[in-house]
Amino acid sequence: MGYVLSNRRVILGVTGGIAAYKAAELVRSLTKAGAQVQVVLSEAAKAFVTPLTLQALSGHPVRDSLLDPEAEAGMGHIELARWAELILIAPATADCMARLAAGRGDDLLTTLVLATPAPVHIAPAMNQQMWAQASTQANLATLIQRGITVHGPDAGEQACGDVGLGRMRQPEALQSAIEDALAPRLFEGKRVVITAGPTREAIDPVRYLSNHSSGKMGYALACAARDAGARVTLISGPTALAMPEGVTGVSVTSAEDMLHAALGNIECDLFVGCAAVSDYRPRLVAEQKLKKGQQDLSQIELIENPDILAQVASHAQRPKVVIGFAAETHQALAHARDKLSRKQLDAILVNEVGDGQAFGQDDNRLHWCDAQQTLDLGQASKIVLAQKILSTLQEHFPL
Ligand code: C5P
Repeated sequence: MGYVLSNRRVILGVTGGIAAYKAAELVRSLTKAGAQVQVVLSEAAKAFVTPLTLQALSGHPVRDSLLDPEAEAGMGHIELARWAELILIAPATADCMARLAAGRGDDLLTTLVLATPAPVHIAPAMNQQMWAQASTQANLATLIQRGITVHGPDAGEQACGDVGLGRMRQPEALQSAIEDALAPRLFEGKRVVITAGPTREAIDPVRYLSNHSSGKMGYALACAARDAGARVTLISGPTALAMPEGVTGVSVTSAEDMLHAALGNIECDLFVGCAAVSDYRPRLVAEQKLKKGQQDLSQIELIENPDILAQVASHAQRPKVVIGFAAETHQALAHARDKLSRKQLDAILVNEVGDGQAFGQDDNRLHWCDAQQTLDLGQASKIVLAQKILSTLQEHFPL
């Protein structure tokens, strides 16, 4: 991770609390990691830490005033707000949080937060009673809801002698959080198409053939890919789940609908077949409800559905990487290896189903199989597994 901060532009806001002395250490380690740090002090912060110390450590004059003609002539506050790739306020006092929540812009730091397109992070630090106060907690909720990332506070002994939540997160931990926030996202700009959920194969206007798939794994993958920077299309059979924000949803019912949607979205970098597609459908769909006694309902003639994943993987416009899932009740790995080669997949994720496992559950146990290896991704929530799948994919089949 050491290279991430090299030449990255960070504004470090410091507000007036005893933890302000730790800002000096933070500036030092951020600059040592190669970041360009512009320190902005609130009026009260100057009582705790001198501008000269922070100027020496950051290598830049410290800014503390909105209306300083000399500083504004160098880089105006709007320019400074645009310059930043990230703003970190550490420590952020209760007063600072209240002012941010109210949308104030009457000093340099609050104005920068209003004017920046960059992500804003805060590391609150205050007396534990002030932190627990309903007003502070309401401000916290507002800031989180508006997309500000909050680190800490941590619990422990406080400068005032109290013990509780309110200590500023250590500079080392803050630095690594900032590295994470500025790290390039794994799938930035990539196009990912995912099928999810079951399909329904109509027998007549009221009956259908289907399975127990909840869609949770495919939806978790869609969210993880979106968070990793991808443009995601989620082709979903009927599920009880809400389409995730920031994902293009295509709702389908039958396997044939799903195939049509998949081929219509074949231009992508990664295609993930996560849907539990019905292998068969009734050969004929009755136009009217079949009636017991009037028709023989003991036999329904079935025909095979198209294999969506195999068609995508063998298509002339095959996406760069195509992966699938296999749910098996026995000899899971052997069956999965067979599907891997038969469907011409790059990798297949295998889960054991039956006995209440996998289908509909929030947790799952998955193995990753490709032509070279089998990896145990372990037992975890589908959300955590989705992230593991994407990082394994990036390692073995970089897009
Ligand atoms: O049903 P099966 O075990 O063959 O499913 C393995 C993989 O193939 C899954 O990823 C599933 O989404 C996909 N599949 C498909 N179209 C089918 C059957 C399965 O895309 N008709």
